[in-house]
Amino acid sequence: MALENKLGITDPAELARAEEKISKKKALELFETGLLDTFPVGTFEGLAMIHRYLFEEIYDFAGKIRDVNIAKGNFRFAPVMYLKAALDNIEKMPQSTFDEIIEKYVEMNIAHPFREGNGRSTRIWLDAILKKELKMVIDWSKVEKEDYLLAMERSPIKDVEIKVLLKAALTDKINDREVYIKGIDASYHYEGYNVYKTENIRDEK
Ligand SMILES: Nc1ncnc2c1ncn2[C@@H]1O[C@H](COP(=O)(O)OP(=O)(O)O)[C@@H](O)[C@H]1O
Ligand SMILES: [Mg+2]
Repeated sequence: MALENKLGITDPAELARAEEKISKKKALELFETGLLDTFPVGTFEGLAMIHRYLFEEIYDFAGKIRDVNIAKGNFRFAPVMYLKAALDNIEKMPQSTFDEIIEKYVEMNIAHPFREGNGRSTRIWLDAILKKELKMVIDWSKVEKEDYLLAMERSPIKDVEIKVLLKAALTDKINDREVYIKGIDASYHYEGYNVYKTENIRDEK
């Protein structure tokens, strides 16, 4: 069964397709209108604004902190109980060097503040920090998806792999539409649709 959504779609694969299409359109809009450049950089508020913009036509939870615990593979993301405190701490993390920025990104991924769409919104958030602080962004077309996912899975334990991978893909083409849009592929996960395991589900029967 599919996540509850505003489109009235019940088939998970169909939802994944519609969601990818709409969120991509919205992500491009966010970039091309210059709206993204007005959002706060490196804060949860900025990330929530990105998430809301991408997913507001699809999910009621767009831009809102999740209220269920979620896990992927063997990894449990931050428990709801500590999520707000974790986000407050992440916001305070420094972001002046490449290593600091990736460490902040890794922590935000561990927090995984939203019920869905963390990957896409947090990659845009990461690029906004890199752009502001280093005048660089990730050229996501240079990041092999399988390598990226393995490095992200590994990152809560050791962040060297994701640092090496993303550093090799840095570019100074910070206003290039193609460079930007590659990071928004929903297919930066193995399955075509939602694969979270959830516990303490409050919004489902
Ligand atoms: N096992 C894992 N451990 C840590 N991070 C993961 C794991 N699997 C996926 N990720 C990260 O989570 C992202 C997927 O999160 P998700 O909320 O599904 O976002 P989206 O729907 O935008 O892809 C991946 O792009 C990756 O960055
Ligand atoms: Mg997903």
